[in-house]
Amino acid sequence: MSIPEHFRAYRIHTSPHRAAVENITLADLNSGEVTIRVAWSSVNYKDALAGTGQGKILRQFPLVGGIDVAGHVVESRDPRFREGDAVLTTGSGLSETRDGGYSEYARLEADWVVPLPPTLSLRDAMAIGTAGFTAALCLWRMQSVGQKPDMGPIVVTGATGGVGMLAIDIYTRAGFEVHAITGKPEQFEALIAVGARQCVARAGLYLGMRPMESATWAGAVDNVGGDLLSGLTRMIKPWGSIASCGMAGGIELHTTVMPFIIRGISLLGINSSGTPYPVRADLWQRLAQEWRPRHLEKIVTREATLDELPEVFDTLMAGGALGRTVVRIGGE
Ligand SMILES: NC(=O)c1ccc[n+]([C@@H]2O[C@H](COP(=O)([O-])OP(=O)(O)OC[C@H]3O[C@@H](n4cnc5c(N)ncnc54)[C@H](OP(=O)(O)O)[C@@H]3O)[C@@H](O)[C@H]2O)c1
Repeated sequence: MSIPEHFRAYRIHTSPHRAAVENITLADLNSGEVTIRVAWSSVNYKDALAGTGQGKILRQFPLVGGIDVAGHVVESRDPRFREGDAVLTTGSGLSETRDGGYSEYARLEADWVVPLPPTLSLRDAMAIGTAGFTAALCLWRMQSVGQKPDMGPIVVTGATGGVGMLAIDIYTRAGFEVHAITGKPEQFEALIAVGARQCVARAGLYLGMRPMESATWAGAVDNVGGDLLSGLTRMIKPWGSIASCGMAGGIELHTTVMPFIIRGISLLGINSSGTPYPVRADLWQRLAQEWRPRHLEKIVTREATLDELPEVFDTLMAGGALGRTVVRIGGE
């Protein structure tokens, strides 16, 4: 398949910050062994930080935005991939140190390319994207320290976000009872529809001040950080764990060692972008099978084009998004 001389990509520049759809050529992209025609991408919090210039995400400029990408191989210099193969990449330096997925064509490093599992479409893969991959990584890490459904419910914060809704779905699928904490009580029904058994309004939540409060949840997936994460450390049952994956509400953490040495809880760091390839491949297999989200059609609330990205980013940065936005690029 021939690659056109010019194609469209959403590119981010610095000093001053500027981001827009431009016509670029293949020579404008970083080198990489696998060139794909992009079908779908998605929007994550990090994409909104990068696109609006509100967070230091890019480490070189200019770069094409988009930390997730899925499409078909058009050229490959790596024997693992052939023309026509359906593939995806999430994180792995995209829109950080390399050109990302908001482009009609992308050049990828073969070592980070994952073959599309046969039970997922390219659109499904991007509906899951970094958000679902992160939720799966949280579960994998929590299971590695012994988190089990019979220990009690898991609470998910930032519940209406992409990671939040997919975590509710995936943990429920894996047999856990899931509770949701949200700043949007008007979305309780949407959270229950994807699996939450109880919903709690963030505004009315009192997390206490003592080093340990009444143990309420067996584990947590935290997208918010700051006071909420600090409070959660005081409320997790003995031997439970917290996956710390986000900072939508702040980067501070104020707690004591008491929950760790009296209740034996674990605080687990989550970094989806740098997940080593064997774990990455394993998690995508699980996401395509036993952890496959059951409610993707409810969790994807928007399908956007490259031209609509600025507006999608503003909504996300204002904390107003619900679920996931997929970006249609060349996808059917
Ligand atoms: N560690 C990793 O590898 C990794 C990977 C992916 C994402 N993340 C992080 O995880 C978080 C969620 O990502 P996402 O893609 O799901 O983002 P998202 O779709 O924008 O969701 C973020 C959610 O956080 C809550 N929120 C937003 N602003 C808040 C505030 N000021 N205080 C408290 N809560 C607030 C909102 O949920 P409610 O209104 O329901 O509370 C919002 O929907 C982000 O911080 C992101 O950077 C980390």
